[in-house]
Amino acid sequence: MKGLHRLEWSAVWTLLGVIVLFSSAIGVTLFAPQFIDPSWRQASSTYQVQMYEVSDPNVYVSTSNPGGWGLQYVYHLQEGFTLHSYQESPLVRILASKELEKYVTRHGQKERILTSRVLLLRPAEKAHAYQKELQAEWEGETPPHFEILELYDPLKSEAFAITETDGVVENWVDENFSILDTPPPYTTEKGVIFVNNPKEYRISSRNYLGTHSWIYDENGEPINDLNELKEGKLRFLSRQSLIKIGEDIYRVEGCWYCHTDQTRTLVQDTVVNGSADFPAPPSSANEYIYQRVTFPGTRRIGPDLSRVGIKRPHRDWHMSHFQSPSSESKGSIMPSFGHFFDDDPAGTFASPYSVPNYKFEAIFQYLMTKGTRITPPNQAWWLGLDPIQTIDIIEGRR
Ligand code: HEC
Repeated sequence: MKGLHRLEWSAVWTLLGVIVLFSSAIGVTLFAPQFIDPSWRQASSTYQVQMYEVSDPNVYVSTSNPGGWGLQYVYHLQEGFTLHSYQESPLVRILASKELEKYVTRHGQKERILTSRVLLLRPAEKAHAYQKELQAEWEGETPPHFEILELYDPLKSEAFAITETDGVVENWVDENFSILDTPPPYTTEKGVIFVNNPKEYRISSRNYLGTHSWIYDENGEPINDLNELKEGKLRFLSRQSLIKIGEDIYRVEGCWYCHTDQTRTLVQDTVVNGSADFPAPPSSANEYIYQRVTFPGTRRIGPDLSRVGIKRPHRDWHMSHFQSPSSESKGSIMPSFGHFFDDDPAGTFASPYSVPNYKFEAIFQYLMTKGTRITPPNQAWWLGLDPIQTIDIIEGRR
């Protein structure tokens, strides 16, 4: 007891001070985030979620014929993740119930309506009468036959859209939130199928000149889960694995020898990577967190690539640029990457159809991560938009 009496007041104050400091630090950590502007903590729109690349990693790609030239895409549509739109074209009309009307981009409407809700199209039951109505309105000589589809709400929130070789549902959107590539999400092209449940994704195998291959077949064997797509004879590559492979290609091809991957805080960087009106945000550390190796680079023989996913989002552009850089960019000294378009890594067997192989898909998906992993305030800076409003734009309310 005697010892306690001798305890000095200063020691007591110190102890109290330590307790107060600790508990306020804990308090700030626990409670302060609730009072921060929400756009700093969370994605304010589906568009942003997508741009974070935590988005649907399940864009699958595979060749249906080993050693062949036909690539198949399987888009895994998932509610809350994947953006798509239902748009009419001159000869395709969409019927929709009152509740679903707001998701349809009507023929002649300029702005595309994007949604992350998984809705599907099927041949319309009432097509016949509507067909007549449309044909009666027609001013040309022979009335055309319209494709009439019905938009409906499937029971599940997951679906596959399958297409041969090239994209049908495009994920990439520009700063006005319109989808950039021209084909509408529904096309009458062969190989485009909407399936409303992964289990309904059916395939059958066949033997072609002694090699094993597979095709989509509605009477074929169903697959049981998504992993089955990645394994065994199918060997689909998801977007996630393509990005990883792309990183390796970037490394071994020495892209970093000529390109940098950093937007510095200098005016020349922010303007060249953006525009005078919307200067690009400088690079920040969080943009690199998913990478195993970073390639900031030191020389700019070619342009900086840190914002290339926003600057050049067109797959077609990259396809012809890698095949023949000077055809897209006059006088370019970038070497051509012919082996992204054939089946032999040595580059001796060029595909006569210029069909890209998985290496092109990998480097393309990798490049598309550049500039698209930007945090909310930065992204608002980039777009010159209020991030809170973007969800309205996407859901077609604006
Ligand atoms: C010998 C240097 C060199 C190498 C190696 C090189 N590039 Fe390039 N790259 C250039 C030059 C120069 C340009 C600008 C002219 C043009 O657009 O082709 C360019 C342009 C580009 C562009 C267009 C960028 C824009 O903003 O317009 C992309 C994308 C690109 N390169 C990607 C790559 C990738 C990926 C690799 C590796 C597989 C690579 N480059 C290898 C020199 C190179």
